[in-house]
Amino acid sequence: MAKAGWKRQLGFLVCWLAIVGQLFVLAESSVNTRSIPGSMNSGEVRSSPPLQLHRLDHHVVMDNGIAKVTLSSPQGLVTGIQYGGIHNLLATNKESNRGYWDVVWSVHPHSRNVFDQLEGTKFRVIREDQNQIEISFTKTWHSSLNNGQIPLNIDKRFIMLRGHPGFYSYAIFEHLEGWPDLNVEQARIAFKLHQKMFNYMAISDTRQRFMPTDQDRMTGQVLNYREAVLLTNPTNSDLKGEVDDKYQYSSENKDNRVHGWVCSDPAVGFWVITPSDEFRVGGPVKQELTSHAGPTSLAMFFSAHYAGPTMGLKLRGGEPWKKVFGPVSIYLNSVAADKDPRLTLWNDAKQQMLKETENWPYNFPLSEDYPHANQRGTVTGRLLVRNRYSKKNLTAANSAYVGLALPGDVGSWQTENKGYQFWTRADADGYFSIKGVRTGNYSLYAWVPGILGDYKSDLYVNVNPGNENKMGALVYDPPRRGPTLWEIGIPDRTAAEFYVPDPSPKLMNRLYINHAEKFRQYGLWERYADRYPNHDLIYTVGVSQSQKDWFFAHVTRNVGNQTYEPTTWQIQFDLENVNKRGTYTLQLALASASFAELQVRINNRHAARPHFTTGLIGRDNAIARHGIHGLYWFYSVDISGLRLLNGRNTIFLTQSRGSTPFNGLMYDYIRLEGPPTN
Ligand SMILES: *[C@@H]1O[C@H](CO)[C@@H](O)[C@H](O)[C@H]1NC(C)=O
Ligand SMILES: *[C@@H]1O[C@H](CO)[C@@H](O)[C@H](O)[C@H]1NC(C)=O
Ligand SMILES: *[C@@H]1O[C@H](CO)[C@@H](O)[C@H](O)[C@H]1NC(C)=O
Repeated sequence: MAKAGWKRQLGFLVCWLAIVGQLFVLAESSVNTRSIPGSMNSGEVRSSPPLQLHRLDHHVVMDNGIAKVTLSSPQGLVTGIQYGGIHNLLATNKESNRGYWDVVWSVHPHSRNVFDQLEGTKFRVIREDQNQIEISFTKTWHSSLNNGQIPLNIDKRFIMLRGHPGFYSYAIFEHLEGWPDLNVEQARIAFKLHQKMFNYMAISDTRQRFMPTDQDRMTGQVLNYREAVLLTNPTNSDLKGEVDDKYQYSSENKDNRVHGWVCSDPAVGFWVITPSDEFRVGGPVKQELTSHAGPTSLAMFFSAHYAGPTMGLKLRGGEPWKKVFGPVSIYLNSVAADKDPRLTLWNDAKQQMLKETENWPYNFPLSEDYPHANQRGTVTGRLLVRNRYSKKNLTAANSAYVGLALPGDVGSWQTENKGYQFWTRADADGYFSIKGVRTGNYSLYAWVPGILGDYKSDLYVNVNPGNENKMGALVYDPPRRGPTLWEIGIPDRTAAEFYVPDPSPKLMNRLYINHAEKFRQYGLWERYADRYPNHDLIYTVGVSQSQKDWFFAHVTRNVGNQTYEPTTWQIQFDLENVNKRGTYTLQLALASASFAELQVRINNRHAARPHFTTGLIGRDNAIARHGIHGLYWFYSVDISGLRLLNGRNTIFLTQSRGSTPFNGLMYDYIRLEGPPTN
């Protein structure tokens, strides 16, 4: 059973290696050999100098002869990274604004948010030998403190390995039983790099560019929210007239493995590598920020972005909680004379990402809260999909996303944020294998691209060290009450297949011109009224095409004077021989909602009461943040045959909440099903 799964993974790997291999041929001759990944074999370790930990008055320095990393002590802020001939890669402003862990927290959901750099009060050496340094900066809470400190014990760890260009960081957050309520909105590590040196940013093969500076943003024109700025007077005049917005550079967790910056002279790269999503929240398609103008690089652990406040961590009633965030890898590389140093460094960083991902779980972090491979288990199985109203009653869940998360309801993983999540993709035959799972009690969740809805196994999965939990064949019975009469879109939890307009020529990010991800352009919400100046969208089944005729977001209409009004879309379709006694079903999957309400009316646009309404839903803000999805919503709406006509019918979809450009929703998929037949 597991064989097919293996084969696919191997196929994938071979393909990856082939690509990386090719690129590597390019890079091999020129990358500083010390920075070539794979350098941790014993030969190279011996050829690298032994590690040294220097203790200064207010700082400690980890030094492996390749890089020197300075931290304030006992606060545990990264104040210096010396590498590749550069004295400090980090910004040279205040020491507290260079490299740091931070959270945003509050005691009550409505009290003031506190930005907190989690400064340590105690420095400890965990290991200090020739091959590994691990140091710890802790901060401890106890009830007598009662002085506005965050009610968590924090242990920030930093690791340096012999011969490895860079370092690692992770942290353990702990809330003990009986401690006060706590809300934490976001947690991350932030690095601010040297402004004069790092001006080229790379997030993926197709998302790389020269970036504006913070100063350029300051002299620019703030657009419809403060993160979006029109560059009116940038130092690099090539960037004049472009829009810059950090949200244009967000990524889904599954794609957010490596990103960073390149300095051209000397050619040095700074990369944040996240080898696993287990400590992130919200599953593989949760979106987070990556790198952005500053120059800034983030390792985001959790945030409300593209999900809303439901995503914040809430500890109530003295609930005990503990979680390890990371380790993430800060990887440095450099190249001497090279035709295209940016490409070379990016390709090398990608290869390092691949290697670190393969090495997960790491075998070197020393906190007992971080289990190594032999303390983890495996979960395998096969997912099948039941097809009602189709000849093949069971098919393989081809490429399904399959994951383990805390026990909960169907789909609860997308807002789950207290535990660990472990996700994989099934192969074409539906076989899956989830490795490196921490001990614990999980639910098994899945969804299948191209198939409506969410799967959850009825069985809890208890993972124990060294065990393989064989789940066998699992069957997903997706929402389906009758045969398909028509459908719009692809059930894949995004609106990517729909019509995405060009941005206004005056509000472009040139990176996304002729780019597969043009939805990342600023201001697309305003393009709706340009495309539909006289009346709202009308989609005619059998005539219209969703790629051309279904706007990617159901937005409000700008009627001028800063006024945004609700809009009503129509789906027109013909029916014959309506079964007046039957119940039809409108399957409605949404890819995003922000302060929106979707009302459905059948054949009567002016009906005082809608046939169905979602009520006010969603705060994922995906429209404003250029996501092509936020959170997933699913509704099955019954429609009595009495409401339908022989001949032309119209379903009216009203997004009834107006007032801002950002009230709105995105559809994932809509299907009308006829009444059940035997
Ligand atoms: C699939 O269909 C066949 C023939 O229609 C039937 O014999 C079989 O029991 C069905 N299997 C399942 C799992 O429903
Ligand atoms: C797993 O969690 C579920 C839901 O909380 C619970 O009902 C079940 O008893 C747990 N199983 C074990 C073995 O802890
Ligand atoms: C625009 O809105 C403002 C404030 O609501 C109002 O005072 C003004 O009369 C409006 N102008 C037009 C042309 O409608």
